[in-house]
Amino acid sequence: MSDTSAIEPLILGGSPSPFDIPKGCFGLTVTEVQHYTDSLFRFRITRPQEFRFRSGEFVMIGLPNAEKPVFRAYSVASPSWDEELEFYSIKVQHGPLTEHLQKIQPGDTVLMRKKPTGTLVNDALLPGKRVWMFSTGTGLAPFASLIRDPETYEKFETIVLVHGCRTAAELKYGEDLVASLRNNPLIGEMVDGHLFHYTTVTRESFDRQGRVTDLISSGKLFDDLGLARMGPEEDRAMICGSMAMLRDTKELCIEHGLSEGANNKPGEFVVERAFVD
Ligand code: A2P
Repeated sequence: MSDTSAIEPLILGGSPSPFDIPKGCFGLTVTEVQHYTDSLFRFRITRPQEFRFRSGEFVMIGLPNAEKPVFRAYSVASPSWDEELEFYSIKVQHGPLTEHLQKIQPGDTVLMRKKPTGTLVNDALLPGKRVWMFSTGTGLAPFASLIRDPETYEKFETIVLVHGCRTAAELKYGEDLVASLRNNPLIGEMVDGHLFHYTTVTRESFDRQGRVTDLISSGKLFDDLGLARMGPEEDRAMICGSMAMLRDTKELCIEHGLSEGANNKPGEFVVERAFVD
């Protein structure tokens, strides 16, 4: 396959970059950037026709701002049918990548390695009735992809997107996304009555408070939703958050009788770290 990406315009901050697109990468154009808080933003980039991925997978993202660019793993937040690619990112003040990435604007170039991968995919779960998507912070990203994919609704009758953040402002990306799905003439019908969105905040007062893990342990999560507690017969789970959140949520899934799966051995729950920190 010929690599045509090397001839695409290479622009950053409005001026051409002196660096070539590295081998094995696409050089893609930023189409949209939206900032939510001092520490969160989303961006969209063009999608090469040849790039295929499964909803829930991640790719390596970088910037053409050095001879050897820094790459970080990013879950694709858009579904596999979308014409563009969307990502949801934190901004870290001295983060090797996000310090620069947070400044991108439409027209700029972003690097993306060509091979997607990841375990938070429908194929890694055994069939079931409900799927629980447990996320904290930017761990929401792979689920932003999966809740927009009709395949998820074909596989599961009920999809529960659980999102825990420190503050209510950090819930906005997920709230906007779910509202847009409900209002979407194509997807709205599929989502209606099937997608539950459960948000919780830990560091300020809010309707629902407490860590996702505490809400699972106490049973409050299930009671609030009017759903039975998780069990291996009907429930499947996907987990994405910090290392500590993964460890604790995974333990709770095991306590509820679920066993871990992978791409080559589908199971009752799967786990992936929310990467960029
Ligand atoms: P808390 O405010 O009690 O630390 P972070 O930005 O640190 O990744 O946190 C995002 C959200 O995840 C916060 O609400 C945080 O709660 C929560 N959190 C942090 N560690 C865990 C954990 N081990 N299990 C569940 N939730 C966690």
